[in-house]
Amino acid sequence: MLYNTSPDQLYEPRTTVVNPVGYGKVALVTGCASGIGLACTQLLLEHQFSVCGVDRSPFDYNLLRVADHGRFHFHLADLVKDVGACDEAVRICLQAAERDDRPRRVDLLVNVAGVLDNFASADTVTDSLWDHVLAVNLTVPVRMMRAVLAPMKEQAANKTTGNGQGGVIINVASTAAVSGAVAGIAYTASKHGLVGATKNVAWRFRNEGIRCNAVLPGAVDSSVGQSIANRVDGGLDAGGFTQAEPVLALQAHTQRPDTGSPSSTKSANTGTDITALEVARAILFLASDAANSINGVCLPVDKAWGVM
Ligand SMILES: NC(=O)c1ccc[n+]([C@@H]2O[C@H](COP(=O)([O-])OP(=O)(O)OC[C@H]3O[C@@H](n4cnc5c(N)ncnc54)[C@H](O)[C@@H]3O)[C@@H](O)[C@H]2O)c1
Repeated sequence: MLYNTSPDQLYEPRTTVVNPVGYGKVALVTGCASGIGLACTQLLLEHQFSVCGVDRSPFDYNLLRVADHGRFHFHLADLVKDVGACDEAVRICLQAAERDDRPRRVDLLVNVAGVLDNFASADTVTDSLWDHVLAVNLTVPVRMMRAVLAPMKEQAANKTTGNGQGGVIINVASTAAVSGAVAGIAYTASKHGLVGATKNVAWRFRNEGIRCNAVLPGAVDSSVGQSIANRVDGGLDAGGFTQAEPVLALQAHTQRPDTGSPSSTKSANTGTDITALEVARAILFLASDAANSINGVCLPVDKAWGVM
């Protein structure tokens, strides 16, 4: 097994001081029910954003602080299968904000929902796997961006409330967006494509108050990691996985801050150091005004794994 997995937990911030980075702002997060999307939702709520979360899986409200429930709205939808689901998600986000007496706007889109492939290569990938992975990881984020761009442009143009700022888009890509050695062909192509889409949106709308960036997490302790772990004994494309495994193991081989000792070869097969919360923190930074001049970047969150 390459990944440790722990259940998603209620996130309790260490400080009681309220950080108002997101005060008055509305965020839309896809894939909010688990892993990075859940951590992102929890962190944005802690920073006073109102959050509309979308997922095809039900959301467990016990994973939110009671104090944050009033600023969270969950929309259950399969963004691939449900016709018009991306436009509908944005419509519901705008509507929910208005109903709760918040500004009818969307200031932040975080495209997190994604699926892994089975490490199949160009010679073994099936049409259905290719279509599904590309649909979730690339087509849906592009549709979500298309759907938020209209309200974001309107917001930027609004002289009273806009201040020239339309909104921020953050796409969760992967080390596989810049490497051909860590996943199968479908996942790799989808994440490379997502980086291309990110750069295109960043450049095209740079003068319209919209920023678009990507984060590139390394292997994270989450259910995507769990799905690799579950497949190690079956379901993986053996040829593709055998080629990626030594590269994946190199990340698991990094220094563990809790023990101060490097993971042994044995423990390299049981753990990874990057948490969903750490990825969420990078997303929060890119969403904040502190990142106002940062547009079109692909920020690795991988403890230097990607430099190899
Ligand atoms: N876990 C990792 O090691 C890792 C590494 C790099 C990048 N990523 C990327 O991070 C993102 C989140 O991954 P995670 O590890 O948190 O995984 P996760 O499985 O915990 O979360 C993904 C969420 O997306 C939702 N989702 C999937 N397909 C959907 C659809 N069609 N409609 C609506 N919701 C859908 C799932 O229900 C799930 O809640 C993905 O884009 C993944 O590619 C993960």
